Amino acid sequence: MDIVICKSKEQASYMVAAYIDRAIRKNPRTVLGLATGSTPILMYKELIRRHKECGLDFSQVHSWNLDEYLGLEGTHPASYRYFMNEQLFDHINIDKANTHVPDGMATDYEAAAAAYEEGIRADGGIDIQVLGIGSDGHIGFNEPATSLSSRTHVQTLMLGTRQDNARLFFGGDLAAVPTRAITMGTGTVLDSRVAILLAFGKGKAPAIAGAVEGAISHMNQASALQLHRDAKFFIDEEAASLLKHADFYKAVYADSDLRSLEA
Ligand code: F6R
Repeated sequence: MDIVICKSKEQASYMVAAYIDRAIRKNPRTVLGLATGSTPILMYKELIRRHKECGLDFSQVHSWNLDEYLGLEGTHPASYRYFMNEQLFDHINIDKANTHVPDGMATDYEAAAAAYEEGIRADGGIDIQVLGIGSDGHIGFNEPATSLSSRTHVQTLMLGTRQDNARLFFGGDLAAVPTRAITMGTGTVLDSRVAILLAFGKGKAPAIAGAVEGAISHMNQASALQLHRDAKFFIDEEAASLLKHADFYKAVYADSDLRSLEA
């Protein structure tokens, strides 16, 4: 695992956008795995800036999002399809036909989940998976006690997750937050070639400490990334504040090529 402790969320977002920029320029048909939520917003803004000002070309890029609420149309303002259009896709030259978000309106969820897995496979697999982390350690919507080898599936959401996300539903209407979602599994995430997790703020510190320094456990799904062949955490000082070996990670970083991503 590469643990990059950044001065600010702005710096972390810049570095991750720079990493993705390099990958796309090297392989224009990069397959991205994308996340929603507050965490990746600044990183998406930086990708948009690079598209508009630096010629970053998304015309051949494909994308697969982690998750979607069950029962929400893509036109619903709190749906993840709507979020992706607003925060990224509408501002870059990606072909929307090559962007995928699980179908929250599918009637046969099992078939939809299996088709999503098959779609990722047929697309060549995910080159770079972007992740946030829930305060309970979830990645995608894989809540505690989900199998660490799970594939795309329907997931019941924990109350704490629904409370965390209620702010996006008509200013905090918990009753409006769906109780279930369709999500890539943690096993699906582990298949990605590179996994990049972003985390900002004190609220994420316990989940980050568990993921990086705790035992691998289905109670903190992000801890499964310890088994990933190439996982990189870009986190701010607050999210890193409960790490026991932060100084060591900083020393490793000082010797690494990742420094070249800094502005
Ligand atoms: C979103 C997702 C979730 C979020 C996590 C953190 O597609 O998969 O795992 O990354 O809930 O959300 P924020 O960034 O809003 O704190």
